[in-house]
Amino acid sequence: LFSAVPLAPRDPILGVTEAYNADTRPTKVNLGVGVYYDENGKLPLLECVRTAEDQLNALHAPRGYLPIDGIALYDQAVQKLLFGAQSPVITGKRAITAEALGGTGGLKIGADLLRRFTPEGTTVYISNPSWENHRAIFEGAGFEVQTYPYYDAATHGVDFDGLLKCLKEARPGSIFVLHACCHNPTGVDLSPEQWTQVLAALQAAGHVPFLDIAYQGFGDGIEEDGAVIRAFAATSLPFFVSSSFSKSFSLYGERVGALTVVLSDADEAARVLSQLKRVIRCNYSNPPTHGAQVVQRVLNDDTLRRQWESELGAMRVRIKAMRKALVAGLAAAGIDRDFSFIERQRGMFSYSGLTADQVEALKVDHGIYAVSSGRICVAALNDKNVETVARAIASVLAK
Ligand code: LMR
Repeated sequence: LFSAVPLAPRDPILGVTEAYNADTRPTKVNLGVGVYYDENGKLPLLECVRTAEDQLNALHAPRGYLPIDGIALYDQAVQKLLFGAQSPVITGKRAITAEALGGTGGLKIGADLLRRFTPEGTTVYISNPSWENHRAIFEGAGFEVQTYPYYDAATHGVDFDGLLKCLKEARPGSIFVLHACCHNPTGVDLSPEQWTQVLAALQAAGHVPFLDIAYQGFGDGIEEDGAVIRAFAATSLPFFVSSSFSKSFSLYGERVGALTVVLSDADEAARVLSQLKRVIRCNYSNPPTHGAQVVQRVLNDDTLRRQWESELGAMRVRIKAMRKALVAGLAAAGIDRDFSFIERQRGMFSYSGLTADQVEALKVDHGIYAVSSGRICVAALNDKNVETVARAIASVLAK
């Protein structure tokens, strides 16, 4: 049975970490995966998380099964964070939320749910480029996946006319996966005015928006980065949201995320939730306890919540400083190409414009790892490695 199984390629992102881990050079740097490291190159454990964990440990609580859709206090906290506590989608019971295994888990159960209820032949559109796993997840759920124009390399901005044209020409009822903030991999977001036009085009065509928000708080702030979700919630359009606390709580390994679906009314919401629970039950039965307990404790406690906001704010500020330092470092290394766009990009990533060959040379010659698309994780830079990285980029560009 398995004698003819071909070797699968390494994952385009997590495969970079595998290669990095196998590298024995002490000077190596991993700018591949989207993970925030502090100024000492260490993965932080947030103080708010430490306190919540201390509180939980003191309880020595037994570990029964959770409900299929997870911890109710967690699901409610997710909704309040996304929509605001007084949002009519919450008070009108139009939103349903299920705890999921990270943002990826939210996308997966959302994709499986959509596959069950959308007509045969429904196409999923993802941005060009997009997070590599979007295509894999939706194709894995049985959809045909196409791309909509997004990044314009010439301007380091958005091909907005191309995007609007695609929204208008796609078959009505198509699914559009949209990055709510801090676009992965480009770091280039739509303006509020552009979002208004996108929303109108989605509504006119009866498309299904699937918003992915994995980096809330890493752009301009928690509220600011959630504005797009609130704009969608202010319409009558049903939509999906996958959200993640991996980055914003530095809880990567706990797999804490959610799927939220906003429906037309409370009755529809109750029926869709019942179906979503069936999808979850035959995927992984019910979610794990620890990470979601930590997050709900922090979000539901005023002091811990303030502490989280300040810790997340510090991560955001440090990433912005590293963008500046990288641009300055590249100029100091004698590069005449204008890299100032790196400072305008938002979130953890910079779409550097490096080719796959240049990324390969960075790895082979300098032990610096990035995604072959040229995406580099600015959140892994620090004062100690940024100059080395800038000089290495300069040397591969000069090749
Ligand atoms: C990334 O894009 O690097 C992160 O979202 C991690 C992942 O799962 O790919």
